Amino acid sequence: MIFRVGRNRLTVLAPAKINLHLEVLGKRPDGYHELETLLVSVSLHDSLVFTPRPADVVVETSDPGLGGGMENLVTRAADLIRCEAKRQEGVSIRLTKRIPMQAGLGGGSSDAAACLAGLNRWWNLGWSDQRLAELGAEIGSDVPFFFHTPAAVCRGRGEKVEPATIGRTLDVLLIKPDAGLSTADVFARVAVPEKPVPVDPITRALEHGGPEEVAALLHNRLEEPAASLSPAVAEIRRQSADWDCLGAKMSGSGSAFFAIAASKESARSLARSLRRRKLGRVFVVQTSN
Ligand code: C5P
Repeated sequence: MIFRVGRNRLTVLAPAKINLHLEVLGKRPDGYHELETLLVSVSLHDSLVFTPRPADVVVETSDPGLGGGMENLVTRAADLIRCEAKRQEGVSIRLTKRIPMQAGLGGGSSDAAACLAGLNRWWNLGWSDQRLAELGAEIGSDVPFFFHTPAAVCRGRGEKVEPATIGRTLDVLLIKPDAGLSTADVFARVAVPEKPVPVDPITRALEHGGPEEVAALLHNRLEEPAASLSPAVAEIRRQSADWDCLGAKMSGSGSAFFAIAASKESARSLARSLRRRKLGRVFVVQTSN
């Protein structure tokens, strides 16, 4: 998260994430799945701008498909921290969306984390990232990660976060087909593997290896169930085998895919080729520092 402090205004940039590795370890009695996932944040951001207001909390968004009500994780985060901190004063929060929604890129979770971090600063609460991450876990499984960017292994439902290290910045392309996917629908179709793929090799490659080694170890257990739910995902999955890149995978529960490129120029060249094929919106990004 990046903060810009102005006079009577605070801007927080909320990054997207990709999952370099996602394994399902089991199904829990509460309906959630036990996960092991390696997340990295990337240089595609939403932004939240906080300005004063006399009484109530008002959330406005740039995306006509997302209202300011409780379906918006920013509104839920603002409500939660305001209640917990027993604050009466209002605030206006303007959310500008750039991260595609229903993409598995963590946009909603990152916005919620940025809202908690922003209001912590706006109201001078002085709460630790740990406390904010615990509060965030009540809103969504990916929220705690955004207090531990740029890389972490997340376990449990996603709330047990162990920071990881990025040795070399990765050049990454993101592609989001028009069709989105519901996280719950994708998890409902996943089969728990008998032999889970371990996260340690790719975590080590991220710290000590080059992009080729990271790309060779990409894994996402949710890719197959997502492809079975969405023809658009199945098509990108099929085509991604021929992309001129080091490796490609779906992110999180989809529907976006990412490709790891050997250089920024190579990512741009792949982006040009994919834009011509009109498979979806394409972004060229890098892992965050
Ligand atoms: O926590 P979040 O709201 O992001 O999760 C959305 C849905 O995805 C959950 O209701 C659940 O069905 C599924 N899920 C899961 N196991 C996880 C995370 C999410 O089954 N670890």
